Order: sequence, then structure tokens, then C-alpha cells
Amino acid sequence: MCGIVGYIGHRAAQPIILKGLQRLEYRGYDSAGIALFDGARIRLSKTKGKVSDLQEKINSDHNNVGNIGIGHTRWATHGVPNDTNAHPHYSNSGDLVIIHNGIIENYASIKKELSKRGYTFQSDTDTEVLVNLIEDVQKNGGFKLGKAVQIALNQVVGAYAIAVIDIKKPNEIVAARLGSPLAIGVGENEYFIASDASPFIEYTNDAIYLEDEELAIIRLHKETKIRKIKDDSLVSPYIQQLKLNIDQIEKGGYAHFMLKEIFEQPQAIKDTYRGRLLVNQGLIKMAGVEDNLEKFINAQKITIVACGTSWHAGLVAEYIFEDLARIPVEVEYASEFRYRNPVISAKDIVVAISQSGETADTLAAIKLAKAQGAFVFGVCNVVGSSISRETDAGAYTHAGPEIGVASTKAFTTQITVLTMMALRLAKAKGTISNSDYKRHLVELETTPTKVEQALKSDALSKQIAAVYKDVPNALYLGRGFNFPVALEGALKLKEISYIHAEGYPAAEMKHGPIALIDEHMPIVVIATKYGHYEKIVSNIQEIKSRKGKIIGIVTKGDTEVKALADHVIEVPETLELLSPLVTTIPLQLLSYYIAVLLEKNVDQPRNLAKSVTVE
Ligand code: G6P
Repeated sequence: MCGIVGYIGHRAAQPIILKGLQRLEYRGYDSAGIALFDGARIRLSKTKGKVSDLQEKINSDHNNVGNIGIGHTRWATHGVPNDTNAHPHYSNSGDLVIIHNGIIENYASIKKELSKRGYTFQSDTDTEVLVNLIEDVQKNGGFKLGKAVQIALNQVVGAYAIAVIDIKKPNEIVAARLGSPLAIGVGENEYFIASDASPFIEYTNDAIYLEDEELAIIRLHKETKIRKIKDDSLVSPYIQQLKLNIDQIEKGGYAHFMLKEIFEQPQAIKDTYRGRLLVNQGLIKMAGVEDNLEKFINAQKITIVACGTSWHAGLVAEYIFEDLARIPVEVEYASEFRYRNPVISAKDIVVAISQSGETADTLAAIKLAKAQGAFVFGVCNVVGSSISRETDAGAYTHAGPEIGVASTKAFTTQITVLTMMALRLAKAKGTISNSDYKRHLVELETTPTKVEQALKSDALSKQIAAVYKDVPNALYLGRGFNFPVALEGALKLKEISYIHAEGYPAAEMKHGPIALIDEHMPIVVIATKYGHYEKIVSNIQEIKSRKGKIIGIVTKGDTEVKALADHVIEVPETLELLSPLVTTIPLQLLSYYIAVLLEKNVDQPRNLAKSVTVE
């Protein structure tokens, strides 16, 4: 977690860094800081709170100097969020200053050693230990900054993306990464450093993504030198041309990124299947699947690993893969999988799902699966992310940047990719009839239009939100393909409104949650017209008898649930298997409006971060 930004060039560094930090706040937002260097002095401002608080602090510190600087927005790991623990951190001499995203696991033993040698520490952070270790290496060996950073990093265990400035080396920033992302924007006589490309996209489309265990010495008017931290070998920088544009990372007239991203879903789903879903030819073309078709067909089982919303998309995929392609699927929390000695072999396929492509537990699960011989396929949104590089093959979701911390369009586009994969495999295995296959392709192509229709529930969702905004608890029920949607609906509500919510398979309600139901409890029931409709109507009756308040998500034209429920939101009819793509829309809107009415910070909910790069 944490976002880092650096600049070295001909422009004033401060505004670039502050704006960049604001764009990276999805990575953490409990404190922020900046160090600016004018070639003679380093000035530091930092504070608990958001980047907007830092902006105010800077104004009062009159701190707007220099063309070199580094900044940080924090998600606390070591030490509570306060001014002292905020980054950047000085070394004891005040000559070095550092920002860090990650965790130095052996910081306590290093701190002990440094303390014996007279170093003192202001903060509780592991980062302050690292900058003093670098200083110690410099002092003892007389090394220049780059070499000292390299030697120090060879002594640490953990994860990092760092940027360091040395007062003795004007015109230089040293950056390095292991396990946390770091991009270098290459402009005309200027360089940018950031956790992702969003802080520099209006200045340059050229970027170098550092690989793990690489260190870059970035100097003004010189080419960036990249070395392997372990063996000191030189790496020739690979400059990528980015396709991101500035509109994609701004709110575009919406009150929040989350709302913008909810409304982007019709387009995002189209972007996901563009060039892959060829209805007229009756084809699904996904290079990563096609190149490995034999492996998929012969797979003993598919294990899906993911976290959070991506894990919910994995659950939907389990139902879809088993139904269409008849391949056994297990869905695992990556954090559990990585530590529980799972039975995985070379006959298995592991599918890792991740919006950011940086989630530490998912990355570790991939490494474990690879070590046990499995073929690992990635479903990621962020192009060039660590997971997309670590996997053997994969498919991007192409949803565009998702900035709101609560995931929305990532979920529906992940399901779209996974559905296309399942259809392709079903076709190859002969587990689907030609007519069914065709029907699914046609229906998938019309999904963006149906999602657009589902988005028309916006005003109604707002009205229902006003009725239930003050409840302490809520229950979400669904069956079959829509059970994971119930889990996702409950997660959305918890994440942004801080209302306790639980998702449950509707029939399982009888084994516990039914005890919670009284006249104060709202229960969102996904009751669309498919195979389980009658069963779900019975579940609704059971809730009714206990006076629970029912919000039904129903198929357009429904009358039966309408007669029983306190409120209904209609969604267009589609195939049962594709229904999660439409039923999830009103649940996203409901959570969004409840959080707005409660005046919560929708895009940056407390304690959460979008990209969880610590375990
Ligand atoms: C965090 C985010 C969630 C996300 C989860 C997994 O918890 O707040 O929205 O679903 O991480 O992230 P990933 O990037 O791997 O999909």
C-alpha cells in the first residue's frame, strides 16, 4: 500500500507531486508528506490526514521550493498514522530523505544494531530504519548514494518501492523496488517516479516499469541507469508507450469516481469483449486461452485465487466454469491458499484474479502454485502489473483505471472475461450444444445494453437508500449464480457506509441469519426469474413471516415478488448465467447512495486501500 511520487526536472516539483499524490490516494490516505530539494536544502512537510491537509500545511510552511522532490501518501503498517510516522523520513544527519511503500520485515534487528552505533529514531516506522541503514553504509564505506542504497537493500528482508534523495547529490534520485510497484516516467529533460503512471500521464507517455530487485539511478540530463540489486549487473531500460489518457483518471462531471465507474460499466464490458467475442463467426478469441487450450482441456482442476471483490468474481466463475465446461473449480482466498499447503500439481491450472495486479497475497499464491508446477493464468486489469508479469499467460479485463476504492467495473469485467473463457473451453470440450453456445454469445454481446437499462434504477436506488440509510445491519440473499452477487452487495455496503452487512445463500438463511430478522432488518433478495425462482419466493415468504423488510431485485415485469416485497428494483431479463452482470448494478447503486446520504468518504473509505501490497 502507500503511494509514492518523485520528480526531477525543470518544473516546480511541488505541484506535480501533490497532484500525483492525490491520484494515488487510492493506495492509502491516512497521512501524507513531501520533501523538496532546491539543490542546497531539503525542506520537509508532513501531516496526518489526506493530501488536501498536506496542501494546507505546505501553504503555511511556505514550502514551495525546488525542481526535485519526493512525496508519499500512507496506509499505516508500522506505527499509527500521525505527523511523525508520516513519510518522508530523514536520516540522522539530515542528509538523506526517503519515501517507502512496503514493509521491511527485519527492521527490528537492524534498528537494534543501528541504535548500538548511536542512531536515534523519531518515528515507529521501518522506513526510518532503512534510511539510517543507508546512511550507515555510506559513512562506513564512503559509498555514493546509489551504491549505498544497493548495499543496504541487500541486507533487508521484505518488500519495497523506495525513492531516496541525498543532499550531497543534487540532480539525482535513487529508486528501487521489490514486491511493490514503481514506474519511471521519462520526459524531455525530466523524470517522474510513481507507484503507477497516473501522476505523470499528462507529461509523458513513456514509462519504464522497474522489475523486482532493480535499482535506478535517475539523474537530470543523463540516461537512467538500472542495476540488479543482488548481482550489480546492468539492465537496459525498456521504455513502454502508455495508452492511458488524462480523462480516464478524472471524475468527468461525476460526484465520485465510484459513481463514474458504476456508469462506465456498459462501455467497460464492451471494451472487455471487443475483438474477442466474434458473434457472427461464432468465435471467442483470447490469445492466452488459445495458446494453452490443451492445458485447459486436460486440466484436472482449476483453482481460482483472489482477494476481496475479485474473489467474488471467482465464485461466480466457479458456477460458470462448472456449468458450461464441466471442469472442477475451487475458489480460494489467496491469503489462505498461500499458507495452507494446498494440493496442487502440474495437471492443475491456477487462475489468479486481480484488478490491480499487485495484491501481495495473490502474488504469493501465484508463486507457490508455480513452484508446485501448476500453469498459472492471470485475469488482471492493470496492464504491466506484477501479477500480469508473474503469470504464465493471461487475459486483461481492459476496464480502464478503477480509482474508487470499492470495486465496481472490475467485478463485472472480470466476470465477462471468465465467462468468455468458460464458453471457449466448453466449445473445445464439447460440453455445450452449438445452439446454446450461439445463444450465450449473442446474449453476452447484448449485456452492455442490459447493464445500461439496469442503471436506470439510479433514482429508485437513491429513494430506497434514503429509507434504510440509518440501519445498523443488513442481509443480502441470493442463490446459484447470484449467491456471490449477494456477498458482493454486502461487501459494497460494509466498505463505504460502515453498516454491518452479510451475504448468504438464500436457503442457508434458515441455519442462522433468520434469527436476526425482525421488523428493523432490511433484506436485499436477488429474486430474478430463473431456475430457483420458486424457491426464492418461499424464502421471501419466510422473511415476511418474521416481519423483515424486503428489497427485491427482480426481473422486469415480475409480479409475484412485487406483491410480497417492500420495494423492488427491476433489471432486464437475461440468461441465468449472465444475470450477475445486471443484478449487481442496483446493489452497487444502493450502497453508493447510502454512503453519500451518510456523508461518508465514498472513494476513500476509512482503513481501506485499493491496492493491498502488504500481506
Ligand atoms: C482491496 C480493495 C478491493 C479489492 C481487493 C483485491 O481490498 O479495496 O476493492 O477487491 O483489494 O484487489 P485486487 O486488485 O487484487 O483485485
